[in-house]
Amino acid sequence: MSTYLKANYGASRYRSLRPEYPPKFYDFIFEHFSEKPKLAVDVGCGTGQATVEVAKRVVEAIGMDHSKAMVELATDMNQLPNLSFRVGDDHAFATEFAPDSVDLVTVAEAAHYFDLENFYKAAHTILKPNGLLVIWGYRNDVIQGEPEATKIVAKYCYDPAYLGRYYDEGLKKFDKFYADYKIPNDLFRDVLYHQNPATTLSDDELLELRRTTSLRDYLAYFRSFSSYQNWFDDHSDATPENDIIAQMTQEILSSTDLTLDSEITIKWHTVYMLGKNK
Ligand SMILES: C[S@@+](CC[C@H](N)C(=O)[O-])C[C@H]1O[C@@H](n2cnc3c(N)ncnc32)[C@H](O)[C@@H]1O
Repeated sequence: MSTYLKANYGASRYRSLRPEYPPKFYDFIFEHFSEKPKLAVDVGCGTGQATVEVAKRVVEAIGMDHSKAMVELATDMNQLPNLSFRVGDDHAFATEFAPDSVDLVTVAEAAHYFDLENFYKAAHTILKPNGLLVIWGYRNDVIQGEPEATKIVAKYCYDPAYLGRYYDEGLKKFDKFYADYKIPNDLFRDVLYHQNPATTLSDDELLELRRTTSLRDYLAYFRSFSSYQNWFDDHSDATPENDIIAQMTQEILSSTDLTLDSEITIKWHTVYMLGKNK
């Protein structure tokens, strides 16, 4: 079962701790349309980070997620009249739409959980000819100018002795940034695939994900990880004072000059791919 389906998964914590995507990335998506798109569907929408931004630029937007908790929170927070949210997974979502009826399908930080071969077919069926499919994601954070703290974070996140073995199956697909799961050329044309490593700093990058925050708030973000939720379920005696994030925090504080109040800038390695429907 996906961690996000667990009854105790904290949807509101997810929303407050995750990064927002940059406006210029949305501008880039909508440069592909000569007029305002009528219908957009955001699959794996979570609490609607990306769906809201898409909705501002289309006539109607629908966010779909297999987690009822995510859909409920997204619905509660929604203030846009042209936006709605529905429960639906990467298979069932397509049955809600007529063939050739959708202008844009987006997937933000969720495609690794999908059965992508079938998802691509489903998106191809509901998208209009020339309709756009856009998929993006991020991981492998780097704390700028703090190699030791970055190394400790990577160890706790990905080493199987720590949170590494608590990954959902889907996340393993993300190890190569979807390189083995690219949008297929037989169903889509003008397919573009682009990675932006966390070590590259360029103003030209469209999906540049950076956040300046305190070390305290950054470390809290790891409690929104599905791997943390799985670790937590495996450690019934865990408290915020002794859990694996507290251990990571202690190691960072004792190995670097950082304090919990230190201001740090995090940059994520991002990937995006898009294709026009054939
Ligand atoms: C990391 S969150 C991303 C949420 C949001 N799109 C964002 O950009 O922050 C992944 C989301 O994918 C959803 N998800 C996972 N597997 C799914 C599936 N098979 N079908 C639909 N949604 C799925 C989860 O419930 C979760 O809300």
